[in-house]
Amino acid sequence: SEAGKELTLPENAFSRPLSFPEEIRASEFELAAETARRKLIGGVNSDVYTLNGSLPPPTIRVKKGETLDINFQNRLDEESILHWHGLTVPPEMDGHPKDVVGPGEAYDYHFDVNQRAATHWYHPHPHGRTGSQIYHGLAGFFIIEDEEEQALNLPSGKYELPLNIQEKQINEQGQATYSLNMMDRMMGFFGNRLFVNSIHAPYHEVTTRFYRLRLLNSSNARILELSLSDDNPFYVIGSDGGLLEQPYKVSSVTLSPAERADLLVDFGRYEVGDSLRLEARTRNGMGGMMDGMMNNGEGMMDGSGGMMQNEGSGGMGGGCMMMQRSRSSDKVVPIVEFRITEEEQDSFQLPEKLTSPSFPNESEAERTRRFNLSMEMMQGSSINGRFFEMMRVDEEVPRNALEVWEFHGDRMMAHPMHIHATQFKVLDRSGGELAPHERGWKDTMLVNTDETVRVLVNFDAPEGMFVFHCHNLEHADNGMMANFEIIS
Ligand code: C2O
Ligand code: CU
Repeated sequence: SEAGKELTLPENAFSRPLSFPEEIRASEFELAAETARRKLIGGVNSDVYTLNGSLPPPTIRVKKGETLDINFQNRLDEESILHWHGLTVPPEMDGHPKDVVGPGEAYDYHFDVNQRAATHWYHPHPHGRTGSQIYHGLAGFFIIEDEEEQALNLPSGKYELPLNIQEKQINEQGQATYSLNMMDRMMGFFGNRLFVNSIHAPYHEVTTRFYRLRLLNSSNARILELSLSDDNPFYVIGSDGGLLEQPYKVSSVTLSPAERADLLVDFGRYEVGDSLRLEARTRNGMGGMMDGMMNNGEGMMDGSGGMMQNEGSGGMGGGCMMMQRSRSSDKVVPIVEFRITEEEQDSFQLPEKLTSPSFPNESEAERTRRFNLSMEMMQGSSINGRFFEMMRVDEEVPRNALEVWEFHGDRMMAHPMHIHATQFKVLDRSGGELAPHERGWKDTMLVNTDETVRVLVNFDAPEGMFVFHCHNLEHADNGMMANFEIIS
């Protein structure tokens, strides 16, 4: 059933095994960031950033209730600071961009993990440099476990696969490159290859049983609609903030940058010798007008005809742009090939119920805040017409307030909006129904073009300053970020 799919098979596809970074289960440890040179694809080294020498960084796995002491050593030649995406920690532990430390400096983190089991992640957050540092490899899993989840006996150990999916731009020499022209700065950085756990198109051997796949899209800008190559269904059991109420049978799940999905895949329906792929239909998030303009032919604008029309409030001035890379949508790209190599009895029973949701009630919200997202040519991307300023408080939020935050998309591009230090409930999106994984706890939510998304959010972090922003990393680096201060 691959008719209608434009499948882009990578060179030397599926010749390397999938692997996983080491796991850290300690409560006290160091994370040292360093530059390195690694072969990502082919025989040529690329410049990458590692943590403790590991690419991707180690997976941090903790139990709810643990206290962590993490010593971050910045051995890069630029400023950095780590943020724990999805966690609620005190403001000075959250990796606010104002807390960056310079080359050779360190930052001590100390915080309690007091939230439910979920697949979170961690990455640097220096303003203006986040896109580059995540792209160079600094994106790791941060997995929380708890008793409620343990009681479900979900597939674990070698049956649990954390898959960190990231797009890269590979040049003809096989090197990953990151350099931004004016259009990249505006639209976000798109690449031409998908990597999983920093490996390009690997294979993985599985047995005839259920597996748990924890998916993270750590791409700078690419939206991924993930499915199995034979279109068989699978179950989505968790979102950014942990377990959903029940498993939902789906045939695809869409993840914008920073979103996670927790899946159960039943390889028991296959036979030894079969193989199938996890693949992604890729989207650039551009509105129809933009997409048409940007993607003539193979994604090249010819440089002569590509006049950008000023489009109402969009604020795109005139001018023609030479596109250097394909931003096309709707290519199907394989991520990993699963090979069924062994028969195995599986006693796992898919639970009917996973958790009892405890969402707050919209009627108890104290107020509504509106945020207009917009992109201005040459200047960057803004929230309510303002570009990020490090120390300016944009919103004051009383501690423990329950509020509705309303994000109004623009006509140019979709924006995956992320709020620090909380998990929210998505109330609705004007452009359509919520997908099953969007009905659970979330910290990042895609706002499509021309769409309004409303989220119900409770601010229970300690007092202080946090950011919220678009997780298209070039949008954030170029201004689509704001501060909120939790006040008493
Ligand atoms: Cu994933 Cu402000 O972060
Ligand atoms: Cu954005």
